[in-house]
Amino acid sequence: MPLVTEEQALQILEKGDVVALPTETVYGLAARVDDDSALTKIFATKERPFFDPLIVHVQNLMHAQAWAHVDSVSRVLADHFWPGPLTLVLEKKDCVSKLINNGGPTVALRSPSHPMFQNLLQKIGTPLAAPSANMFGKTSPTEAQHVIEEFKDKIPVLDGGPCINGIESTVLKVDSDKNQVEILRPGIIHERELNEFLNERKISFSVTTRQSDQSPGHLQNHYQPSSPLILVEGSRSLDAGALSVLQKLDSKNWQELRMDEDPTLAARYLYGRLREISRNRQPMWIRLHPHWKSESLWAGILDRIEKAASGRLCLVDSQWQLILKH
Ligand code: TXA
Ligand code: MG
Repeated sequence: MPLVTEEQALQILEKGDVVALPTETVYGLAARVDDDSALTKIFATKERPFFDPLIVHVQNLMHAQAWAHVDSVSRVLADHFWPGPLTLVLEKKDCVSKLINNGGPTVALRSPSHPMFQNLLQKIGTPLAAPSANMFGKTSPTEAQHVIEEFKDKIPVLDGGPCINGIESTVLKVDSDKNQVEILRPGIIHERELNEFLNERKISFSVTTRQSDQSPGHLQNHYQPSSPLILVEGSRSLDAGALSVLQKLDSKNWQELRMDEDPTLAARYLYGRLREISRNRQPMWIRLHPHWKSESLWAGILDRIEKAASGRLCLVDSQWQLILKH
């Protein structure tokens, strides 16, 4: 059963069930927003707590306005970046189910650009809630096969090919009182790009990135692969001492998770590589390059790697030390 056609995906959604759909960021586990029993199935399938709010996917800005009050800066952003990997947190209208954001006052909206997703939105005529199609806290899927593996064939999947962005959308919230645009979750559309865009439009709002653990649903551990991932700081190569420290944590063969130098490619392939190595239950390490911290293009990737990691290996007084998160 798991692979379905667009027609079958439409029927599944119409009758209030969940189906995994491709987007340009990651695969989403979709259900219609106007049916609480369908929304409940998303939480149950992912074993996701209700406090973690869902993103609602709409066709375009006009449809967004039926579900939320869209302030003028958010409108300009949506007009430019939609359809695309940008999610806007907005003041919700009464028609939004309490299940979407645990009864909170806001709703997160985005218009995905994947043609299959757009096509379904148009045919079904109602927005679709869709968190990433993985068990809560685990690595997001960027290929149909990842979803099949994740849910052991239990969830129908529409195969739309590999996701081109590879990490989840940038989530932001406009604060018109403070003339601020706050990034709640970094992504492909990054801080510098947003600043440049607003400057061009002569909108004097500053863009800031919030400490991600202050955002709802953002936990210290997220996107976690099924075997340990350790961040290695500094440029010294891993010697026998470093390896013996790692072996104490996991005695199997440690693999380096190599990243592309181009952040667009690094983001596109990150989750696939994490899955590939952890499929064999192999532990992994990744070198943290200092320039990643200062380049806004890398912020989204760094955010995912830090949350996916179980700890850091660093040199303290020339001794390798492993600092685990918990
Ligand atoms: O790219 C994406 O955004 C993917 C694809 C499938 O569209 N979706 C996705 O959904 O990443 P999910 O559920 O894995 O992440 C949703 C996150 C929440 O954990 C939270 O951090 C933020 O979006 N969010 C959603 N609603 C919010 C709200 N009302 N206020 C603040 N943050 C919100
Ligand atoms: Mg997710």
